[in-house]
Amino acid sequence: MRVTATAEFMLEPAFFPPLEPNRDQGSSRDAIGLGQRVGPGLDTRHGTILTLEDISVSFDGFKALNDLNLYIGVGELRCIIGPNGAGKTTLMDVITGKTRPSHGKAWFGETLDLTQMSEVQIAQAGIGRKFQKPTVFEALSVFENLELAQKTDKSVWASLRARLSGEQKDRISEVLDTIRLTSSVNRPAGLLSHGQKQFLEIGMLLMQDPQLLLLDEPVAGMTDAETEFTAELFKNLAGKHSLMVVEQDMGFVGAIADHVTVLHQGAVLAEGSLEQVQDNERVIEVYLGR
Ligand SMILES: Nc1ncnc2c1ncn2[C@@H]1O[C@H](COP(=O)(O)OP(=O)(O)O)[C@@H](O)[C@H]1O
Ligand SMILES: [Mg+2]
Repeated sequence: MRVTATAEFMLEPAFFPPLEPNRDQGSSRDAIGLGQRVGPGLDTRHGTILTLEDISVSFDGFKALNDLNLYIGVGELRCIIGPNGAGKTTLMDVITGKTRPSHGKAWFGETLDLTQMSEVQIAQAGIGRKFQKPTVFEALSVFENLELAQKTDKSVWASLRARLSGEQKDRISEVLDTIRLTSSVNRPAGLLSHGQKQFLEIGMLLMQDPQLLLLDEPVAGMTDAETEFTAELFKNLAGKHSLMVVEQDMGFVGAIADHVTVLHQGAVLAEGSLEQVQDNERVIEVYLGR
């Protein structure tokens, strides 16, 4: 499962699905319409949950993103790969409102202009983000962490004191089952393994029922078994949610992604299946550093 993003991975046959007869480069538009369920309120009439067009971000004249175009379909599971400094984290920062693009369009569904919304508004609209390091409340139990993450909470303590409805309890049980922490429900989160903390944090995101989940290097530091479970989890979440996963572990990417976007110098270098992008001359050059 563990393969690092070195030149070797590009050449490795690994466990890919059989090659399609049509080996043309796909675009994200091809992946649109994979999903079925869309949460309430969001207009995704054309099957696109996220539209980024001509997005640029400059840091003191340096272009971290450079006229980037990216489309994510409803229910899609998209992997974003690319060398260090390619702009992957900046891309997530733009989507979540942490960084404002100097120009470009960013739409969530058909009608929500992300460039005009605050981080809180974007989160409430249904975009959840998981950073690389788990940030669970270590002193609280697994259950309490999930309880806190519920959409209705306004303040930590009010939410812990409030009685949960049957529906809320059912949702917690469902999420516990999804992240395989049912038997650890009363354990303090601080006693969980690194991987379990990551699952708990994913569970906390799921409590808010986001339509689009952004995950930055979710399997970094996980054991092989945890990585395999994460792959299974993400495949199950796709369809119900749209997922954008930034990951360096190519074994993991190969296990989950239908569609891969390669970022380089702040723009999309290639898109398609993993084997298509691995065969792409420009991608090989970037990874081999020629
Ligand atoms: N706040 C910032 N100020 C200046 N430069 C930044 C800032 N954030 C990112 N960068 C630069 O932008 C580029 C892209 O960074 P990043 O999005 O973190 O790449 P990745 O996640 O693909 O490794 C890098 O060259 C990085 O040094
Ligand atoms: Mg990064």
